[in-house]
Amino acid sequence: MLKAYDAGIECVGILKGWKGFVENLTIPLNIAEHDDLHTVGGTILYTSRTNPFKGAESKEKVAKNLVAKFDELGIDALVAIGGDDTLSVADAMCKYSKANVVGCPKTIDNDLAGTHYTFGFWSAVQLASNAMDNLTTTARSHQRVFVVEIMGRDAGFLTMYSGISAGADIILVPESPFSFEKDVIDVLKKRVNAGYKYHIIATSEGAYPNSESLKKDFKTISKETIDKLPKDTYGNPLLVKLNISKIIVDELNLREDLKKEFQNNGVDFECRSVVLGHTMRAGTPNSFDRILGLRFGLAAMKLVLEGKFGNMVSLQGNKIETIPLSEGVKKKYITSDSDKMELRDLLVKIRYLSKQN
Ligand code: F6P
Repeated sequence: MLKAYDAGIECVGILKGWKGFVENLTIPLNIAEHDDLHTVGGTILYTSRTNPFKGAESKEKVAKNLVAKFDELGIDALVAIGGDDTLSVADAMCKYSKANVVGCPKTIDNDLAGTHYTFGFWSAVQLASNAMDNLTTTARSHQRVFVVEIMGRDAGFLTMYSGISAGADIILVPESPFSFEKDVIDVLKKRVNAGYKYHIIATSEGAYPNSESLKKDFKTISKETIDKLPKDTYGNPLLVKLNISKIIVDELNLREDLKKEFQNNGVDFECRSVVLGHTMRAGTPNSFDRILGLRFGLAAMKLVLEGKFGNMVSLQGNKIETIPLSEGVKKKYITSDSDKMELRDLLVKIRYLSKQN
Protein backbone atom coordinates (compact mmCIF):
# COMPACT_ATOMS: atom_id res chain seq x y z
CA MET A 1 0.00 0.00 0.00
CA LEU A 2 2.84 2.43 0.80
CA LYS A 3 4.35 1.98 -2.66
CA ALA A 4 0.93 2.17 -4.35
CA TYR A 5 0.14 5.42 -2.58
CA ASP A 6 3.53 6.84 -3.54
CA ALA A 7 2.87 5.87 -7.19
CA GLY A 8 -0.55 7.55 -7.10
CA ILE A 9 -2.49 4.28 -7.30
CA GLU A 10 -5.76 3.82 -5.46
CA CYS A 11 -6.13 0.65 -3.35
CA VAL A 12 -9.24 -1.30 -2.40
CA GLY A 13 -9.32 -4.24 -0.01
CA ILE A 14 -11.18 -7.43 -0.96
CA LEU A 15 -12.94 -8.76 2.13
CA LYS A 16 -12.95 -12.46 3.14
CA GLY A 17 -10.48 -13.67 0.51
CA TRP A 18 -11.87 -15.29 -2.64
CA LYS A 19 -15.38 -15.24 -1.19
CA GLY A 20 -15.33 -11.43 -1.21
CA PHE A 21 -13.83 -11.37 -4.69
CA VAL A 22 -16.72 -13.47 -6.02
CA GLU A 23 -19.35 -11.59 -4.00
CA ASN A 24 -18.01 -8.05 -4.61
CA LEU A 25 -17.17 -7.38 -0.95
CA THR A 26 -14.69 -4.51 -0.94
CA ILE A 27 -13.59 -1.60 1.25
CA PRO A 28 -11.61 1.48 0.32
CA LEU A 29 -8.08 1.39 1.75
CA ASN A 30 -7.24 4.86 2.90
CA ILE A 31 -3.50 5.24 3.51
CA ALA A 32 -3.94 7.72 6.36
CA GLU A 33 -5.93 5.19 8.36
CA HIS A 34 -3.80 2.18 7.51
CA ASP A 35 -0.18 3.35 7.30
CA ASP A 36 0.84 1.37 10.39
CA LEU A 37 -1.03 -1.86 9.57
CA HIS A 38 2.21 -3.88 9.81
CA THR A 39 2.18 -3.39 13.59
CA VAL A 40 -1.20 -5.10 13.99
CA GLY A 41 -1.90 -8.87 14.09
CA GLY A 42 -4.60 -10.64 12.07
CA THR A 43 -6.19 -8.99 9.05
CA ILE A 44 -8.59 -6.06 8.74
CA LEU A 45 -9.86 -7.68 5.53
CA TYR A 46 -11.17 -10.79 7.32
CA THR A 47 -10.53 -14.19 5.76
CA SER A 48 -12.29 -17.31 4.50
CA ARG A 49 -11.38 -20.70 3.09
CA THR A 50 -13.41 -20.30 -0.12
CA ASN A 51 -11.77 -21.80 -3.21
CA PRO A 52 -13.77 -20.97 -6.40
CA PHE A 53 -12.00 -23.81 -8.27
CA LYS A 54 -13.03 -26.50 -5.77
CA GLY A 55 -15.14 -29.15 -7.51
CA ALA A 56 -15.32 -27.09 -10.73
CA GLU A 57 -15.85 -29.03 -13.95
CA SER A 58 -14.24 -26.42 -16.18
CA LYS A 59 -11.30 -24.58 -14.65
CA GLU A 60 -11.11 -22.33 -17.74
CA LYS A 61 -14.67 -21.20 -17.14
CA VAL A 62 -14.06 -20.42 -13.46
CA ALA A 63 -10.86 -18.54 -14.32
CA LYS A 64 -12.64 -16.49 -17.02
CA ASN A 65 -15.45 -15.60 -14.61
CA LEU A 66 -12.93 -14.52 -12.00
CA VAL A 67 -11.00 -12.39 -14.48
CA ALA A 68 -14.30 -10.77 -15.55
CA LYS A 69 -14.62 -9.60 -11.95
CA PHE A 70 -11.77 -7.11 -12.49
CA ASP A 71 -14.04 -4.87 -14.57
CA GLU A 72 -17.00 -5.35 -12.25
CA LEU A 73 -14.90 -4.36 -9.23
CA GLY A 74 -13.14 -1.58 -11.14
CA ILE A 75 -9.66 -2.93 -10.46
CA ASP A 76 -6.64 -3.29 -12.76
CA ALA A 77 -4.52 -5.68 -10.73
CA LEU A 78 -4.80 -7.95 -7.72
CA VAL A 79 -2.26 -8.82 -5.02
CA ALA A 80 -3.32 -12.16 -3.50
CA ILE A 81 -1.99 -12.61 0.04
CA GLY A 82 -2.09 -16.04 1.67
CA GLY A 83 -0.90 -19.63 1.86
CA ASP A 84 -1.10 -22.47 -0.63
CA ASP A 85 -4.94 -22.41 -0.79
CA THR A 86 -5.17 -18.70 -1.60
CA LEU A 87 -2.18 -18.60 -3.92
CA SER A 88 -3.17 -21.75 -5.83
CA VAL A 89 -6.37 -19.90 -6.88
CA ALA A 90 -4.21 -16.97 -8.06
CA ASP A 91 -2.02 -19.44 -9.95
CA ALA A 92 -5.03 -21.14 -11.59
CA MET A 93 -6.41 -17.74 -12.66
CA CYS A 94 -3.13 -17.05 -14.45
CA LYS A 95 -2.87 -20.57 -15.86
CA TYR A 96 -6.39 -20.86 -17.26
CA SER A 97 -6.92 -17.22 -18.22
CA LYS A 98 -4.79 -14.10 -18.52
CA ALA A 99 -5.06 -12.50 -15.08
CA ASN A 100 -3.31 -9.45 -13.64
CA VAL A 101 -2.46 -11.17 -10.39
CA VAL A 102 0.67 -11.37 -8.24
CA GLY A 103 1.11 -13.42 -5.07
CA CYS A 104 2.40 -12.59 -1.61
CA PRO A 105 3.13 -15.55 0.72
CA LYS A 106 1.56 -15.35 4.19
CA THR A 107 0.87 -18.32 6.45
CA ILE A 108 1.93 -19.30 9.94
CA ASP A 109 2.63 -22.83 8.64
CA ASN A 110 5.61 -21.72 6.48
CA ASP A 111 4.80 -24.59 4.11
CA LEU A 112 5.19 -22.82 0.75
CA ALA A 113 7.95 -24.14 -1.50
CA GLY A 114 8.64 -20.76 -3.12
CA THR A 115 10.00 -18.91 -0.10
CA HIS A 116 12.34 -19.57 2.80
CA TYR A 117 9.90 -17.87 5.17
CA THR A 118 6.33 -16.61 5.01
CA PHE A 119 5.35 -13.67 7.19
CA GLY A 120 3.46 -14.72 10.31
CA PHE A 121 5.56 -17.82 10.87
CA TRP A 122 8.16 -16.46 13.28
CA SER A 123 5.56 -14.67 15.42
CA ALA A 124 3.70 -17.98 15.85
CA VAL A 125 6.98 -19.82 16.59
CA GLN A 126 7.70 -17.28 19.33
CA LEU A 127 4.20 -17.66 20.83
CA ALA A 128 4.48 -21.46 20.93
CA SER A 129 8.00 -21.31 22.31
CA ASN A 130 6.90 -18.87 25.04
CA ALA A 131 3.92 -21.10 25.86
CA MET A 132 6.23 -24.08 26.36
CA ASP A 133 8.58 -21.96 28.50
CA ASN A 134 5.55 -21.01 30.61
CA LEU A 135 4.36 -24.61 30.91
CA THR A 136 7.78 -25.60 32.18
CA THR A 137 7.02 -23.77 35.45
CA THR A 138 4.13 -26.13 36.25
CA ALA A 139 5.91 -29.13 34.75
CA ARG A 140 8.89 -28.54 37.04
CA SER A 141 6.91 -27.75 40.21
CA HIS A 142 4.40 -30.57 39.81
CA GLN A 143 6.76 -33.10 38.19
CA ARG A 144 4.56 -33.53 35.14
CA VAL A 145 4.67 -34.70 31.57
CA PHE A 146 3.12 -32.07 29.31
CA VAL A 147 2.08 -32.96 25.77
CA VAL A 148 1.75 -29.69 23.85
CA GLU A 149 -0.18 -29.74 20.57
CA ILE A 150 0.93 -27.16 18.02
CA MET A 151 -0.75 -26.09 14.75
CA GLY A 152 0.37 -27.76 11.53
CA ARG A 153 -1.78 -30.38 9.85
CA ASP A 154 0.78 -31.72 7.43
CA ALA A 155 3.91 -29.63 7.83
CA GLY A 156 5.82 -29.57 11.10
CA PHE A 157 7.77 -26.30 10.81
CA LEU A 158 5.92 -24.60 13.69
CA THR A 159 6.43 -27.55 16.03
CA MET A 160 10.03 -28.17 15.01
CA TYR A 161 11.19 -24.56 15.37
CA SER A 162 9.25 -23.77 18.55
CA GLY A 163 10.12 -27.16 20.05
CA ILE A 164 13.85 -26.69 19.46
CA SER A 165 13.64 -23.08 20.63
CA ALA A 166 11.90 -24.02 23.89
CA GLY A 167 14.12 -27.06 24.43
CA ALA A 168 11.23 -29.54 24.24
CA ASP A 169 12.32 -33.04 25.24
CA ILE A 170 10.49 -34.91 22.47
CA ILE A 171 9.39 -33.33 19.17
CA LEU A 172 6.88 -35.11 16.90
CA VAL A 173 6.16 -33.83 13.38
CA PRO A 174 4.01 -35.14 10.51
CA GLU A 175 7.03 -35.53 8.23
CA SER A 176 8.43 -38.43 10.29
CA PRO A 177 5.71 -40.80 11.58
CA PHE A 178 6.80 -41.83 15.07
CA SER A 179 7.07 -45.07 16.97
CA PHE A 180 5.27 -44.61 20.31
CA GLU A 181 7.45 -47.25 21.97
CA LYS A 182 10.81 -46.02 20.70
CA ASP A 183 10.29 -42.27 20.30
CA VAL A 184 8.09 -41.63 23.35
CA ILE A 185 8.07 -44.44 25.95
CA ASP A 186 11.77 -45.38 25.67
CA VAL A 187 12.87 -41.74 25.72
CA LEU A 188 10.74 -40.98 28.81
CA LYS A 189 12.17 -44.05 30.57
CA LYS A 190 15.75 -43.07 29.73
CA ARG A 191 15.10 -39.50 30.82
CA VAL A 192 13.55 -40.42 34.16
CA ASN A 193 16.39 -42.88 34.83
CA ALA A 194 18.90 -40.16 34.01
CA GLY A 195 17.33 -37.97 36.71
CA TYR A 196 14.87 -35.77 34.84
CA LYS A 197 11.69 -35.08 36.79
CA TYR A 198 9.57 -33.33 34.17
CA HIS A 199 9.18 -33.59 30.43
CA ILE A 200 7.76 -31.46 27.62
CA ILE A 201 6.58 -33.26 24.47
CA ALA A 202 5.88 -30.94 21.51
CA THR A 203 3.65 -32.50 18.88
CA SER A 204 2.19 -31.13 15.65
CA GLU A 205 -1.58 -31.54 15.44
CA GLY A 206 -0.86 -33.62 12.32
CA ALA A 207 1.89 -35.84 13.82
CA TYR A 208 0.99 -39.52 13.78
CA PRO A 209 2.49 -42.92 14.59
CA ASN A 210 3.72 -45.21 11.82
CA SER A 211 1.33 -48.03 10.86
CA GLU A 212 3.19 -50.64 12.86
CA SER A 213 3.19 -48.56 16.03
CA LEU A 214 -0.46 -47.60 15.56
CA LYS A 215 -1.45 -51.27 15.44
CA LYS A 216 0.88 -52.43 18.21
CA ASP A 217 1.06 -49.57 20.73
CA PHE A 218 -2.27 -47.76 20.65
CA LYS A 219 -4.98 -49.24 22.85
CA THR A 220 -7.37 -46.28 22.94
CA ILE A 221 -8.14 -46.11 19.21
CA SER A 222 -10.39 -48.83 17.81
CA LYS A 223 -9.55 -50.69 14.60
CA GLU A 224 -12.77 -49.33 13.11
CA THR A 225 -11.66 -45.75 13.71
CA ILE A 226 -8.25 -46.47 12.22
CA ASP A 227 -9.78 -48.07 9.09
CA LYS A 228 -11.88 -44.98 8.49
CA LEU A 229 -8.94 -42.56 8.68
CA PRO A 230 -7.48 -40.92 5.55
CA LYS A 231 -4.02 -42.25 4.60
CA ASP A 232 -0.74 -40.50 3.78
CA THR A 233 1.18 -41.26 0.56
CA TYR A 234 2.80 -44.31 2.22
CA GLY A 235 -0.53 -45.73 3.37
CA ASN A 236 -0.14 -44.66 7.02
CA PRO A 237 -3.47 -43.65 8.60
CA LEU A 238 -3.50 -39.95 9.50
CA LEU A 239 -4.66 -39.10 13.02
CA VAL A 240 -5.02 -35.39 12.32
CA LYS A 241 -8.67 -35.09 13.35
CA LEU A 242 -8.29 -37.10 16.54
CA ASN A 243 -6.53 -34.72 18.95
CA ILE A 244 -3.14 -36.38 19.07
CA SER A 245 -2.00 -34.78 22.34
CA LYS A 246 -4.96 -36.27 24.20
CA ILE A 247 -4.40 -39.66 22.58
CA ILE A 248 -0.74 -39.62 23.67
CA VAL A 249 -1.73 -38.73 27.26
CA ASP A 250 -4.39 -41.47 27.32
CA GLU A 251 -1.86 -44.01 26.06
CA LEU A 252 0.80 -42.87 28.55
CA ASN A 253 -1.69 -43.30 31.39
CA LEU A 254 -2.21 -46.93 30.40
CA ARG A 255 1.50 -47.75 30.66
CA GLU A 256 2.09 -49.44 34.03
CA ASP A 257 5.73 -50.12 33.06
CA LEU A 258 6.35 -46.41 32.59
CA LYS A 259 4.58 -45.51 35.85
CA LYS A 260 6.77 -48.02 37.69
CA GLU A 261 9.91 -46.52 36.20
CA PHE A 262 8.83 -43.06 37.42
CA GLN A 263 8.00 -44.42 40.90
CA ASN A 264 11.34 -46.24 41.15
CA ASN A 265 13.00 -42.89 40.60
CA GLY A 266 10.81 -41.14 43.18
CA VAL A 267 9.05 -39.07 40.51
CA ASP A 268 5.28 -38.50 40.37
CA PHE A 269 3.57 -39.73 37.22
CA GLU A 270 1.08 -37.18 35.94
CA CYS A 271 0.46 -36.28 32.32
CA ARG A 272 -1.48 -33.37 30.85
CA SER A 273 -2.27 -32.31 27.31
CA VAL A 274 -2.42 -28.67 26.19
CA VAL A 275 -3.69 -27.65 22.75
CA LEU A 276 -2.20 -24.27 21.81
CA GLY A 277 -4.55 -24.02 18.80
CA HIS A 278 -5.64 -20.52 17.86
CA THR A 279 -3.64 -18.83 20.62
CA MET A 280 -0.79 -19.21 18.13
CA ARG A 281 -2.46 -16.87 15.63
CA ALA A 282 -2.76 -14.20 18.31
CA GLY A 283 -1.32 -10.88 19.36
CA THR A 284 1.01 -8.51 17.54
CA PRO A 285 3.50 -9.69 14.94
CA ASN A 286 7.20 -9.72 15.85
CA SER A 287 9.68 -7.37 14.18
CA PHE A 288 10.88 -9.97 11.65
CA ASP A 289 7.34 -10.55 10.37
CA ARG A 290 6.51 -6.83 10.32
CA ILE A 291 9.55 -6.06 8.20
CA LEU A 292 9.13 -9.13 5.97
CA GLY A 293 5.47 -8.19 5.35
CA LEU A 294 6.50 -4.65 4.35
CA ARG A 295 9.30 -5.94 2.10
CA PHE A 296 6.92 -8.38 0.42
CA GLY A 297 4.34 -5.62 -0.04
CA LEU A 298 6.87 -3.30 -1.65
CA ALA A 299 8.14 -6.04 -3.99
CA ALA A 300 4.59 -7.14 -4.92
CA MET A 301 3.62 -3.59 -5.84
CA LYS A 302 6.74 -3.27 -8.00
CA LEU A 303 5.69 -6.44 -9.86
CA VAL A 304 2.27 -4.86 -10.47
CA LEU A 305 3.84 -1.60 -11.73
CA GLU A 306 6.13 -3.55 -14.07
CA GLY A 307 3.25 -5.75 -15.27
CA LYS A 308 5.02 -8.95 -14.15
CA PHE A 309 1.86 -10.91 -13.41
CA GLY A 310 1.67 -14.64 -12.68
CA ASN A 311 4.57 -14.30 -10.22
CA MET A 312 4.92 -14.20 -6.47
CA VAL A 313 7.41 -12.50 -4.20
CA SER A 314 9.64 -14.68 -2.08
CA LEU A 315 12.43 -14.57 0.48
CA GLN A 316 15.61 -16.38 -0.60
CA GLY A 317 18.29 -16.06 2.05
CA ASN A 318 17.91 -12.40 2.96
CA LYS A 319 16.95 -11.27 -0.54
CA ILE A 320 13.46 -10.63 -1.88
CA GLU A 321 13.16 -12.46 -5.19
CA THR A 322 10.44 -13.16 -7.76
CA ILE A 323 9.34 -16.64 -8.80
CA PRO A 324 6.46 -17.94 -10.94
CA LEU A 325 3.33 -18.65 -8.90
CA SER A 326 3.18 -22.14 -10.46
CA GLU A 327 6.47 -23.04 -8.70
CA GLY A 328 6.01 -21.03 -5.55
CA VAL A 329 2.64 -22.42 -4.48
CA LYS A 330 3.88 -26.00 -4.20
CA LYS A 331 3.85 -27.36 -0.64
CA LYS A 332 7.04 -27.49 1.41
CA TYR A 333 7.83 -29.99 4.17
CA ILE A 334 10.72 -30.62 6.55
CA THR A 335 13.03 -33.01 4.74
CA SER A 336 14.77 -35.93 6.43
CA ASP A 337 18.21 -34.42 5.66
CA SER A 338 17.32 -31.07 7.26
CA ASP A 339 19.62 -29.82 10.03
CA LYS A 340 16.47 -29.28 12.13
CA MET A 341 15.77 -33.04 12.14
CA GLU A 342 19.40 -33.66 13.11
CA LEU A 343 19.26 -31.04 15.88
CA ARG A 344 16.01 -32.48 17.22
CA ASP A 345 17.49 -35.98 17.44
CA LEU A 346 20.69 -34.72 19.02
CA LEU A 347 18.80 -32.67 21.61
CA VAL A 348 16.75 -35.68 22.65
CA LYS A 349 19.69 -38.06 22.85
CA ILE A 350 22.47 -35.90 24.31
CA ARG A 351 20.26 -34.75 27.19
CA TYR A 352 19.69 -38.14 28.76
CA LEU A 353 23.22 -39.30 27.98
CA SER A 354 24.86 -36.29 29.63
CA LYS A 355 22.65 -35.76 32.68
CA GLN A 356 24.39 -36.37 36.01
CA ASN A 357 22.15 -37.62 38.79
O1 F6P B 1 -3.51 -23.29 7.63
C1 F6P B 1 -3.05 -22.71 8.78
C2 F6P B 1 -3.56 -23.36 10.00
O2 F6P B 1 -3.08 -22.50 10.96
C3 F6P B 1 -3.15 -24.80 10.33
O3 F6P B 1 -1.89 -24.97 10.92
C4 F6P B 1 -4.27 -25.23 11.25
O4 F6P B 1 -4.45 -26.60 11.23
C5 F6P B 1 -5.45 -24.55 10.64
O5 F6P B 1 -4.96 -23.38 10.04
C6 F6P B 1 -6.58 -24.24 11.60
O6 F6P B 1 -7.62 -23.65 10.90
P1 F6P B 1 -8.98 -23.12 11.50
O7 F6P B 1 -8.73 -21.74 12.02
O8 F6P B 1 -9.89 -23.10 10.32
O9 F6P B 1 -9.38 -24.05 12.59
